[in-house]
Amino acid sequence: MTRTVYLNGEYFLENEAKISIFDRGFLMADAVYEVTSVLDGKLIDFKGHANRLNRSLDELDMKNPISYEELLAVHRELIHLNEIDEGLVYLQISRGAPSDRDFVYPNPDETDPTIVLFTQNKPGLANSPSAKKGVKIISIDDERWGRRDIKTVQLLYPSMGKMMAKKVGADDAWMVQDGYVTEGTSNNAYIIKNNKIVTRGLSNDILHGITRAAVLKFAKEAQMQVEERNFTLDEAYEADEAFITSASTFVMPVIEIDGNKIGQGVPGSSSSRLREIYLEESKKLAI
Ligand code: PDD
Repeated sequence: MTRTVYLNGEYFLENEAKISIFDRGFLMADAVYEVTSVLDGKLIDFKGHANRLNRSLDELDMKNPISYEELLAVHRELIHLNEIDEGLVYLQISRGAPSDRDFVYPNPDETDPTIVLFTQNKPGLANSPSAKKGVKIISIDDERWGRRDIKTVQLLYPSMGKMMAKKVGADDAWMVQDGYVTEGTSNNAYIIKNNKIVTRGLSNDILHGITRAAVLKFAKEAQMQVEERNFTLDEAYEADEAFITSASTFVMPVIEIDGNKIGQGVPGSSSSRLREIYLEESKKLAI
């Protein structure tokens, strides 16, 4: 099925949507994005993603070309047109296409942002076989820029990290800075030790995951202990359980880090329970 996508206020077939070669998203990675999951045809945590989008735009002095209500309507229309039951909606806003390449930002009164949305159909996303098997992680140095709290499309290093993992037969990588785990290439990172969930606190060093916020809230409601602090790789190797969270993986158990089995080397019971709680509660709140 040829997808219908959204570009600057209009719907197009995916092969008919065109943007300028001078677009700053293309030339400078001067763009922010969001990925929102869809379950049962409904959006998970839409408000959280819309709020973070506004924050990313504000941090980069970029204009928001679309209201909350319009954005929701476009997401819903794309889900409907592309018949998405389970999948993702990708949204990107760049600073637009000035008439030439220039490091200096274009005048926002003369250059409108470029806004693009498309869907990704992922049947079986909630029932993913990886969640039953768990994933294997390697560790790599965190060599990204210092404003990881802004969700920009500068994703080359995370892509390199995924490739490094793939090369050695692992599924993903956790990044390490000054001896402490920051986060996964496209997800937040957690360990569980003595029934306590440990994850790095919020700062400019990591993306403030929307799934992270929901999972920590649900964990506390389920009387699980949560500690937001830095943790080392050694702590991770010795953990009882480990997992990652993101809009595309929800809660995903980690069974191996750098070749060290975590716990029994199978998805841990608390991680699996958290995944169930997350899916159940998020579906109730989906819009
Ligand atoms: N990635 N950390 C990083 C570096 C991420 O890229 C992501 C999301 C997360 C988790 O954030 P959230 O729970 O809001 O999805 C953490 C998305 C899914 C992606 O790039 O495809």
